[in-house]
Amino acid sequence: MQKPRIDSRRARESFPAGVRRLKVGPNPDLCLDPAMTLPIDFPHISRPHLLQLLRDAPKAELHIHIEGSLEPELIFELARRNGVALPYASVDALRQAYAFTNLQSFLDVYYAGASVLITEDDFDAMAWAYFRRAAHDNVVHTEIFFDPQTHTARGIDMGVVIRGLDRAARRAESELGLSVRLILCFLRHLSEDDALATLAAAMPYRDRFIGVGLDSSEMGHPPGKFERVFARAREAGLHLVAHAGEEGPPAYIRAALDVLKVQRIDHGVRCVEDPELVARLARERMPLTVCPLSNVKLRVFDGLDRHNIPALLAAGLCVTVNSDDPAYFGGYVNDNFVQLFESLPQLTARDAYALLRNSFDAAFVDDEDKALWTEELDSVFAAHEP
Ligand code: ADE
Ligand code: ZN
Repeated sequence: MQKPRIDSRRARESFPAGVRRLKVGPNPDLCLDPAMTLPIDFPHISRPHLLQLLRDAPKAELHIHIEGSLEPELIFELARRNGVALPYASVDALRQAYAFTNLQSFLDVYYAGASVLITEDDFDAMAWAYFRRAAHDNVVHTEIFFDPQTHTARGIDMGVVIRGLDRAARRAESELGLSVRLILCFLRHLSEDDALATLAAAMPYRDRFIGVGLDSSEMGHPPGKFERVFARAREAGLHLVAHAGEEGPPAYIRAALDVLKVQRIDHGVRCVEDPELVARLARERMPLTVCPLSNVKLRVFDGLDRHNIPALLAAGLCVTVNSDDPAYFGGYVNDNFVQLFESLPQLTARDAYALLRNSFDAAFVDDEDKALWTEELDSVFAAHEP
């Protein structure tokens, strides 16, 4: 994999004179210490300025299902090209089906959409479209989830899926300067044996993905069901993440930590129902990859103005903002940031900085890359000071 596009010399030069620099490098205390001293004049950043800052700032995206970036137009184009029949008459009819009542109602449509992906070129085209969109939002690093079982169950070879995604990733690195990593997710509504077979089938491509995750229908499928496959992935040196506490109870978050030994929790918003768990997540600086628009579309919260991100930040948690399935939930990562801050006036410029900075601290990259991106983030904030 290539190095990210940030040029540290340029970042240093663009830092305005007279503004004291932040200590370079990931700050392990950031998630714990909201009172940390920063050289940026946060209170004087106006609201319109802050929204622009959120758009302009470099950021990492750590929770994006690549199959959830498949826009309706591309679904129809691939369906036509591959002779796949869709249960929707048109792009508009498909879009009209995006009125979800819960996670399962979304997953039914999402798996139907993914059925048009057949060839290596299709996976490449889907991922390339996302990478271009992400670069437009100033994403500098992205860790994309993919669901191989959705495809292998239809007779698509594992190599077709991974080679197609990897080809787009390498092109994004060379043409867009985007840093890309892949995370293979197991579908939790299927058996652990199926997950074990999936991991085995992916091992010939071990160098093309950095971790494993757990997604799909959460209720009734606790993390403990996947203990052996996560242990095997850990032995293979893979990073570990899992969806937990999106619709499921705090006990699922605890099980993801204690049984699966994950390094990040995807969603995790229901942790607030268990104050001891919140204290533990803060103490362990366990990142939560939160997806605000997703949570509203899937009725986890009644509106963005009811989202619990302010409470999670106030509790000292290492929260990040992500898009989940942007083609289905009405927005990419910058839409998530901007709409969240528009809906929650209590979120401050300091919160914005923390969320962006957390995205780098929680990424599965080395400290040198984190330091470069953090420098760039600081430059952008400093340059926006009034
Ligand atoms: N797969 C795609 N999006 C998902 C989500 N939000 N939760 C669980 N599984 C998913
Ligand atoms: Zn997700």
